[in-house]
Amino acid sequence: MSESRSHVLCRLDDIPDGEAIGAHVPSATGGFDLVLLRQGDRVFAYHNECPHTGRNLDWSPGRFLVRDGRIICAVHGATFAVASGACLGGPCRNGLVAIPLVLSDGEVRLP
Ligand code: FES
Repeated sequence: MSESRSHVLCRLDDIPDGEAIGAHVPSATGGFDLVLLRQGDRVFAYHNECPHTGRNLDWSPGRFLVRDGRIICAVHGATFAVASGACLGGPCRNGLVAIPLVLSDGEVRLP
């Protein structure tokens, strides 16, 4: 496996349009979890960590509440814009931490 292949997170088609999936990025120190959100041919990635209390955003591992261009934290209902990660409502004061992505050949990769 080449170095670039090691950064493939998933295929674009693995993410239902308008929804989200989780992804784990491994590292020597345990890695970190991402939420990958799709809007058509665009994909947005954020740390799967709510800025309210640091809990994961998903209600079950890899299952997220996404509606009308917003992702809702399953713990206390903070709401964030899918396209920017900005806090839109609820108990968050800050937005989600964005991770840059590359879409190439139908694959979603880290740069
Ligand atoms: S932990 Fe997400 S809203 Fe409280």
